Amino acid sequence: MQIIIRTLFLLCCFSFSAQAQQINIIPQPKEIALKSGRFVINEKTVILFNDEQLKFLAAYTSDMIKSATNSQPAVVSKSGTAVKSRAINLIIDPNAATKKEGYLLDVSSNSVVVKALTPQGLFYGVQSLLQMIPIEGELSIPAVSIKDEPRFPWRGLMLDVSRHFFTMDQVKRMIDEMVIYKFNILHLHLTDDQGWRMQINKLPELTSVAAWRVPRTGLWWDRDCPQEGEAATYGGFYTQQELKELIAYASARFVDVLPEIDVPGHSLAAIAAYPFLSSTKLNYKVNPGCKFYGIDDNSLCAGKESTFEFLDKVFTEVAEVFPFEYIHIGGDECYKGFWEKCEDCQQRMKENGLKNTNELQSYFIKRLEKMLEQKGKKLMGWDEILEGGLAPKASVMSWRGMGGGIAAAKQNHHVVMSPTDYAYLDLYQGDPSIEPPTYSMLRFKTIFDFEPLPDGVDETYILGGQGNLWTESVPTFRHAEYMLWPRSFALSEVLWSEKSNKNWNQFVGRTEAHLKRLAKYDINYASSFYDAIVTPIKGSQDNLLIQVDTELEGLDIYYSFENVYPDHHTPKYKKGEKLSVPKDADTFRVITYREGKPLGRIITISIQELIKRLDK
Ligand code: ACM
Repeated sequence: MQIIIRTLFLLCCFSFSAQAQQINIIPQPKEIALKSGRFVINEKTVILFNDEQLKFLAAYTSDMIKSATNSQPAVVSKSGTAVKSRAINLIIDPNAATKKEGYLLDVSSNSVVVKALTPQGLFYGVQSLLQMIPIEGELSIPAVSIKDEPRFPWRGLMLDVSRHFFTMDQVKRMIDEMVIYKFNILHLHLTDDQGWRMQINKLPELTSVAAWRVPRTGLWWDRDCPQEGEAATYGGFYTQQELKELIAYASARFVDVLPEIDVPGHSLAAIAAYPFLSSTKLNYKVNPGCKFYGIDDNSLCAGKESTFEFLDKVFTEVAEVFPFEYIHIGGDECYKGFWEKCEDCQQRMKENGLKNTNELQSYFIKRLEKMLEQKGKKLMGWDEILEGGLAPKASVMSWRGMGGGIAAAKQNHHVVMSPTDYAYLDLYQGDPSIEPPTYSMLRFKTIFDFEPLPDGVDETYILGGQGNLWTESVPTFRHAEYMLWPRSFALSEVLWSEKSNKNWNQFVGRTEAHLKRLAKYDINYASSFYDAIVTPIKGSQDNLLIQVDTELEGLDIYYSFENVYPDHHTPKYKKGEKLSVPKDADTFRVITYREGKPLGRIITISIQELIKRLDK
């Protein structure tokens, strides 16, 4: 009996660890059954596809295999759903038991079969297949049977192209990267105080003036405001032709592009081009990231008809260029102080029986909703659009926590959850002492713990979720990648995988396998999740105590209060310990180890800084 139990145990653990070693798919598929054998990719391997719609996908699969293996499988069209051996079979099958975005992937030593109802489902099956191709050693894929489909239909990432400008090639590269992890929405934040990025033919100053600002580097919000006569040389914009090309590129990869024109707040760039748009009509330049420069006077006037005439021109062209059913109109952080003093706004409120400026904002958004409806589009906005009453059919992107999303869903409106606490990819991911400066903290593990569907909310109203990469402190695409990866692995897992399949330790193992893949393809990423987490706490005498933790389990932590680098010869931290600071110590240093080897970076923080953090 004992032998049987031991054998069963060994079998179970063998298969689990074999699975753990061989199948490192992110996001975790719904069902995986490991089989015996391997499919070898060699010069005889061909890609077969059974539907003309799959022509691009078959060529894409061949190109991706070439970039992984240096050998390019031939692509051959065939009819019917029969499987051919020695081939990767891409099959649209009306009888495939999956949902729209689902797929079945069956790998045996003889063939690879990806089946789905739709090309999109097949695309995701191909992504899973590509992830199983090893980046070194023998070119073979473990035999496996996978049945997969997403938990949520909206799996988004937002890129702010206003605060810093990113080229078309960079945005395409972001699409290439996000589709590996089965994201399907790219939200472009096209306008803000720091730049307008879309060509609008009827409003040429939006690109000759609003797209450009004076050049600055250094800390955002600490920069010099534009000087008199200084040339605005930093910026750029996308022509409508470029945007159409981008949309086609995204669409071939099953990504919808959501355009955001952020109004009535965050509109200083447009106001710099067309000063009549604001309540004050004052002249400004596009803000290069300096504080207090028109920062409050950046709202479009809600009283004048000329504002709505301007917006009608903008949204007519946005609706013509972007085929996606939604247009995002922003609606966040609108300063309404100038509306209080503006005769046109006051008149508008009187005529429409609006009791306060929140209701005036709601009037503004409701008018935009009607405007978009006439152009065949649905309106989406940040959760401030709830203030003063939600427009009748508006969808809400909830960013100030989940509350706005919950309230909107309870009023039967569709919602995308992108709360700062779980989905803001511009925030710190490691200790501020060793990360480039930005705002508050959002660690990798915290994103993994994100649950977009709150208790008591009807799931039909929760479209899904989205990670937002604001780029005040992201001046290069390389740094955008650093902020995106691996944190967006966690988002993809949250938005695609079954909640019941969640397993942090197993996910970390898959993450580490994927970081090697990112390195191979020269995609930048952060390793911050290996570092220690240093938390100052108050002792009973209001004295400073220090606790240390890690995002990963099973790490060792070594520290020092002496002015030396910590290693396995300096004191070892005991889990939960509250370290008191030795008299006159001025610096705390800490490092993580795994299996006897240094893992994370050394964190060095002055005691003064820790005391400062204590008071925050
Ligand atoms: C936002 O972060 N202001 C939507």
